[in-house]
Amino acid sequence: MSRSAHPAGPRHADVLPEGHYSAPPADLNALDPKVWAQTVTRGDDGAVTVGGIPVGRLAEEYGTPAYILDETDFRARARAWRTAFGPDADVFYAGKAFLSRAVVRWLNEEGLNLDVCSGGELATALSAGMPADRIAFHGNNKSAEEITRAIEAGVGRIVLDSFQEIVRVAHAAQSLGKRQRVQIRVTVGVEAHTHEFIATAHEDQKFGIPLAGGQAAEAVRRALQLDGLELIGIHSHIGSQIFDMSGFEVAAHRVVGLLKDIRDEHGIELPEIDLGGGLGIAYTSDDDPREPHEIAKALTEIVTRECEAARLRTPRISVEPGRAIVGPTAFTLYEVGTVKPLDGLRTYVSVDGGMSDNIRTALYDAEYSVALVSRTSDAAPMLARVVGKHCESGDIVVKDAFLPADLAPGDLVAVPATGAYCRSMASNYNHVLRPPVVAVRDGEARVIVRRETEEDLLRLDVG
Ligand code: LLP
Repeated sequence: MSRSAHPAGPRHADVLPEGHYSAPPADLNALDPKVWAQTVTRGDDGAVTVGGIPVGRLAEEYGTPAYILDETDFRARARAWRTAFGPDADVFYAGKAFLSRAVVRWLNEEGLNLDVCSGGELATALSAGMPADRIAFHGNNKSAEEITRAIEAGVGRIVLDSFQEIVRVAHAAQSLGKRQRVQIRVTVGVEAHTHEFIATAHEDQKFGIPLAGGQAAEAVRRALQLDGLELIGIHSHIGSQIFDMSGFEVAAHRVVGLLKDIRDEHGIELPEIDLGGGLGIAYTSDDDPREPHEIAKALTEIVTRECEAARLRTPRISVEPGRAIVGPTAFTLYEVGTVKPLDGLRTYVSVDGGMSDNIRTALYDAEYSVALVSRTSDAAPMLARVVGKHCESGDIVVKDAFLPADLAPGDLVAVPATGAYCRSMASNYNHVLRPPVVAVRDGEARVIVRRETEEDLLRLDVG
């Protein structure tokens, strides 16, 4: 990504400061389809519409800030993943990206499975009717209660993350008189090219059991000995927001290597391999994500090739995309509160949300784009930093972006690609209320997660 100071366009500085930005876009009113949900477009009056509804109407009806989710786009992406992998593979949507009961129903209808990683996500999935055998249960520290609940519910697989958990799940299953289908999550030793906090396949971290030093092979030995477990496969998740397929290639090579060792030692061929999620999306026009069919083709080819070389039957492949399905389908709608130009630096644009509805910028140095959506403007581009209302200078939503210089309080701006890891990581910092998620489809909008209220806050505070 090119990131250099650019001389054009500011209203209050001749030379722009160092920052994370490239040139201002040729047309500030244009909406790059790469970063905006499928049905987002500008109406004749210049206001942005989604699913046929103008953002002004959404703001009036549901208030700001609000996450606006394009259901048509969500379903289309879910379907694209499902179709790309076909009937001989499984797509598990990673619920951690964003989960609600409506989402569970959409997934169910579109034929996707679901990955959950806590009792809360499991409860949401079950309460919205996801068949338990299509649920995978993840986590590096599942509680005894969560394990029991998952087994009782009949989840399709539990992904084992440690030696201790192998024993815990086996005992829990046995005491319930069941045999639980499990996968073992391994760390393959890949350095994924992504932020340190969201890379998960290098060995020095909390997830999985390292292939290195024969630890994963030992985990397999133990799992195979326990009556309460049916070992169905090996799982690898290398990280998140990844564009480069080479990490998956190395992971598949190493996981298939383990499958081969298992065949040689135990005489069995495990029937499944899960390559996790982690496929990147476009947050700005500089990002170039791959399409699901390209990803499916690449992953299937890699696994098939590796298995042929190892003389193994190709196992059933599964994947767990979260961000790539829900991320691009939503934007956060904010109202501009104050506009503060700092001479020679940039203009601080304060919106009515912030790090409580999008922690990703502060936490991962994430980059986002932003646009004025309640109207068009012919004003010159101004270098802006979109900040929230929290008592913290790190409360930044969009670090550097160009907005029209006539931006004013009351304007609506929207930050695209906030469908993943924004509502699901939202907090109540400063007792700011978490925004609603409003789903829009074919000219109709409905709240699928309502706005938090002060009563909600006070209900938890028992005095
Ligand atoms: N499978 C497993 C086992 C995972 O741990 C994850 C994400 C996924 C699938 C889905 O990954 P995705 O396709 O959504 O990248 N909060 C961070 C991302 C953390 C990802 C955690 N695990 C962020 O906002 O970037």
